[in-house]
Amino acid sequence: MSGAQDIPVLTLDGPSGAGKGTVSRAIARKLGWHYLDSGAIYRSLAIAVLDRGIALDDVDAVAAVARSMDLAFDAGDPPKVLLDGVDISHRTGTETVGNAASKVAAIGPVRQALLQKQREFRQLPGLVADGRDMGTVVFPEARYKVFLTASAEERARRRYKQLKEKGEDVSLARLTTEIEERDRRDRERTEAPLKMADGACFVDSSDLSIEQVIERCLALVQA
Ligand code: C5P
Repeated sequence: MSGAQDIPVLTLDGPSGAGKGTVSRAIARKLGWHYLDSGAIYRSLAIAVLDRGIALDDVDAVAAVARSMDLAFDAGDPPKVLLDGVDISHRTGTETVGNAASKVAAIGPVRQALLQKQREFRQLPGLVADGRDMGTVVFPEARYKVFLTASAEERARRRYKQLKEKGEDVSLARLTTEIEERDRRDRERTEAPLKMADGACFVDSSDLSIEQVIERCLALVQA
């Protein structure tokens, strides 16, 4: 008999701005697999918490929101995130929300509450899972694992370009500091810290094009 454990999973973990989102989406599209953007779950939770006026470090209240929020992903083009039935897609990508997400994501009971939600994405014919703890905690038995990183300067530069293109007024120095701060929080937390999973393939994208990174990941699955 086959179960969820037989469904192939490719995990892509790494720090923010390494290109995981773009790469994961492209691979999922090429393979015809499902896609889990686990960061969007933490970002949505951050929005729910901020909207309710709850402090980001109020462990019990934040965990209660994580358990009760109604989150749905619409995989259309463009994809949508619905929080309690309302489309919040235009709000998930800001630096403020990313930083708040990394704070609520450090809370143990929050991660526990969101574990099952993430595992439900494992559906045939396969799943590409993008995050920080996909290969270490959520899908430790995944068949394929990648740790994708890039230097903090390069990641800040990419993010700066993205935000400038959107017309946002940002400073490169401030972005670099924020990215380094967020990485430190993600790496040093006790709950599911960002680290390379055992057996993961290490890819540094600092000097690679997105296409080259996609090719390396696909080669892993198609080998
Ligand atoms: O990947 P993204 O930048 O959208 O993630 C936002 C924040 O959510 C991260 O900085 C991290 O703290 C948290 N996160 C996490 N575990 C994941 C995905 C994201 O803790 N699997």
